Parts: sequence; C-alpha cells; structure tokens
Amino acid sequence: MDSHQNDERALALETLAVGAGYDPAEHGGAAKPPIYMTSTFVYESAAQAKAVHQAFFDGEVPERGSRHGYIYARLDHPNLVMAQTRIAALDRAEDSALFASGMAAVSTLAMSLLRPGDSMMHSRPIYGGTDMLLHAHMAEMGVHVFGFTDGVDEAHMAAVADAAMAKGPLTLIMVESPANPTCAIADLGMISRLADRIALAQGRRPIISVDNTFLGPFLQSPLEHGADLCLTSLTKYAGGHSDFMAGSVSGSAALVGRLKKLRTLLGCHADPHSCWMLLRSVETMSLRTERAVKNAERIATYLRDHPKVTRITYLGFLAEGSAARAVYDRQCAGPGSTFSFDVTGGEAGAFRFLDRLRLLRFAVSLGGTETLICHPATTTHYAVPEAARTEVHIGPATMRVSVGIENSDDLMADLAQALEAV
Ligand SMILES: Cc1ncc(COP(=O)(O)O)c(C=O)c1O
Repeated sequence: MDSHQNDERALALETLAVGAGYDPAEHGGAAKPPIYMTSTFVYESAAQAKAVHQAFFDGEVPERGSRHGYIYARLDHPNLVMAQTRIAALDRAEDSALFASGMAAVSTLAMSLLRPGDSMMHSRPIYGGTDMLLHAHMAEMGVHVFGFTDGVDEAHMAAVADAAMAKGPLTLIMVESPANPTCAIADLGMISRLADRIALAQGRRPIISVDNTFLGPFLQSPLEHGADLCLTSLTKYAGGHSDFMAGSVSGSAALVGRLKKLRTLLGCHADPHSCWMLLRSVETMSLRTERAVKNAERIATYLRDHPKVTRITYLGFLAEGSAARAVYDRQCAGPGSTFSFDVTGGEAGAFRFLDRLRLLRFAVSLGGTETLICHPATTTHYAVPEAARTEVHIGPATMRVSVGIENSDDLMADLAQALEAV
C-alpha cells in the first residue's frame, strides 16, 4: 500500500498503521504478511548476483530489497522491508531503518554519525542506556559529550552549544522529548534554528535526532518540527504487548542509508519474526494509545490530588502560560500515558508502596497493554551518577508509571491500597 495511493489526499496514520508496506498481490494473495524465515536468498544468475551487490554496496543509499534483490538477511529481508516501510509511513519519513532493539538503534546512530574529536550534546535526563553509551563508550572513543537540562531555554541551549563547539565540531544534537522518566520536553523548532546558527559558525550543521519513544507517531511527529532523525524504541508502544524488542530510526533516505550500511556490519537488524510481530502490533496502536491516554489522565489526576504524592510530571498538568506548555501545545497531540511521580517518605516510602502493589506490575519498560511501574533511581537510571539524577529531579522517592489499557477503576483501587503503606 502506497501512503498516497488513493487520491491526492495523503492517508491518515490509522490507515497507514494497518496496511502500509504490505501488498497481498506480491505475496501469493496472502491477506496478512507471511514470515520469511530464511537467512539467505538464492541468486537468479551470476550477473544478477553482481547487480544486487552493486546496488547495495556502491550506492549512497542501499537499494531496498525487492523480489529479486535480496542477498542475505543481515543486509535486508522481506519482513524488514515491510516493517520499515510501515514505520517510515507512520513517522512521515522518506525511509526508516529497523534494529534489534531501541538501544541497537541508538548505538548505530551514535557510531554512524560521531567520530573521535567531534562534540555532541544531549538532553538530560535521557534513557539510562543512552546516557551510559554516551558518557562511557562514546566519551572513551574521543567524543566530547555535553548535556543540556532545559531544552526549552534558548540561552541555555546556545551556551551549551558554544561550550561544545569550543572542544570540536558539534556534529549531533540528541534529544529525548518527552524525557525518560521526567517527561521534560524540548522545543524542536528552536533547536532547529539553533542548528542553523551553529552551521553558520562552524560550517557544518549538526544532525538533530529525537527519541520519540514516550509519545510515538500518533502523539508527536518530530520530523515535522525540525528533527532530521526520529528514533523510537518499538519495544514500547509500537510493540505494545511487552513481548518482543525492536527499534527504528526514520528520516531522509540518505541519512537512514548511512545507518543501514553500519547496521549490516554490526549485525543488529530486526529479525523476520520481530518484524512480523511489529506489523501486527502497530495495526492496533492508535486504539491502544487512545485508551491508555484516557486511563493515564484519570490516574494522574487521582495521584496529583493524593496527600502522599508530592510531585507529578504528567504533561497534561504543564502550567498554562509557561514556556513548556507553549511547546507542548505546538508539538504534541496528547500527553501520552507514561509519567513519573514522587511519594512522601523517601526511598523507604517508595519501596513500601511498590512492594504493596498487586495489579500494577513492578517492572522496567513501558508502553505495554499492562500497567508497569518502576523506581528509576535504582533500575532504569541506576548507572547515572546520583548527583546527575538529583539535578534533573530523579529522586529516591520517584516512580515511573506506564499506564496500560486495563479498567482504570481497578488500577486506582490498587494505587489507593498501596499508597496506604507509604
Ligand atoms: C526513551 C527510550 N529510548 C530508548 C530505549 C531503549 O530501547 P530498548 O529497550 O528497546 O533497547 C528506552 C528503553 O527503555 C527508552 O525508554
């Protein structure tokens, strides 16, 4: 299905989520995608083998696989092409590369775009795995890594950019918006204008990547707000059932092509079964998103008004008239269903609460049909130094909750009885 096939009107995301990237006529009329469980593909002739290798390796952009164009599943395979086409359509991108996990996407992006001596800047907080990759591994490889704590404050951003440029060419601005776990948001339009000014100063425009895992394509389209690349852990809302892992990076064919070439060498592509699971899961993503957002609004309101809850970062509560609210209204179509909150009593209070929960599941990850809750300081953001966590309000009593699609009365009853233990 072509995203523009019916008439001059582009198809809506709900429609693309069901059919983009799959044409039954190319697969024996099968109404739903078959799984191609094969590691290698038979060439038609020696000349055709030479031609497909030329197309994959010599072009700036690896040619997409076709019925006659596959070589080996680490380079490309039919389910990968279907899933990439669908995710590209949802992200409103020219192309998308799929990976074995969100972190495979983050690592490939960083390794593909950064070189020793380069500078990069990233939003803080950022997912703990990404933080560790940047501050341990990329820094060890000679990349100068700079964090910014307020992606809405232009003066702060410009000052961090200046400090970064003083160390080396500023090559990458990596943004997670909303941020895990605090939901801090960044102004992508402002960052895009900053990138233009950086280009004038250093003769090269930094690439802006935005991790859209917390909201997903139905609630935020980073590429339409100035990002060059949109990164997503598909393990979360796109997968939606906490039963497989995948990641994606969408953007221009040229940029995504660079990532695909490195992915071939790292061997971190998404496998046929995960791609098939993803194609099936995204069909219901808009419905799951709608229900989870509704549940989250009720639960956030309940928590905000509870005397034992001292702080809540739900995006729907951003103060009217604030700079962050203006960015949210411009950039986001909804507040999502993952946020964090603090309870009274410090870590001991938080642990009593977590140990008392019966229905909410105490586990890392987010975006599943089931409601998940975790304690970032001791789990997802364990590797982030305490001082850095404290600076961005990830405290000993902070919990992150990802609200699922269960009955919200049942969820609130469980929260109520667990809060009694705090
Ligand atoms: C915002 C964000 N980005 C990236 C990742 C990494 O994704 P994965 O766990 O699929 O590797 C996560 C995981 O929690 C995340 O929350």
